[in-house]
Amino acid sequence: MHDIFKLFKMFTKKLLVISNIIFVVIISILIYILVFTGTEMVKLPNDNRITVKYEPDLHELVLDEMRDYLEVINEIQQGLAENNSQKIVTAATRQGQVSLEATPVRLLKLSPLACKTMGFKGHNIFQAIADSARINFNRTTTINQLAELTNNCIACHRTYKLEMD
Ligand code: HEC
Repeated sequence: MHDIFKLFKMFTKKLLVISNIIFVVIISILIYILVFTGTEMVKLPNDNRITVKYEPDLHELVLDEMRDYLEVINEIQQGLAENNSQKIVTAATRQGQVSLEATPVRLLKLSPLACKTMGFKGHNIFQAIADSARINFNRTTTINQLAELTNNCIACHRTYKLEMD
């Protein structure tokens, strides 16, 4: 009887040691995965975009304007949701004709023709969104214009990328 008890004690002790080893091994594997994997380079899709080079100030200006496009689009969407045409007019006007006229000549000189054309088209659509929301607001019209606008953003993003000169 005493022997069986001793054997049992030995067995549980062994079991404890084994389970501790398993535990340490699992934790080590998890730490390894966490620390060392995931640092490999991600596979990038094929990039055949044309590089356009601008000096630092123009580069900043272009990207700054891009971020504002997104903000204007968001404000237009809010205007649609709230049925608030004035909000749409105010937002879209900001990137319409006014913005087009403020484009520095240097930027035009450095931009490829197709890039310029898409840039102009974007501003023209912003202006058209403002005009039709002001004159005869119709949500479906605005939504269709937004689709045309974002299609133009996509076309240009697929074609060009920027690099600082
Ligand atoms: C004339 C071409 C052109 C048009 C039109 C255009 N983009 Fe871009 N946009 C670019 C290029 C080029 C970049 C830089 C991409 C790169 O270098 O990888 C860019 C970058 C951006 C960025 C990133 C800005 C940053 O700070 O890095 C946003 C956001 C963006 N565009 C939004 C838009 C939206 C929204 C529209 C449409 C309303 C739009 N763009 C229309 C050419 C264009």
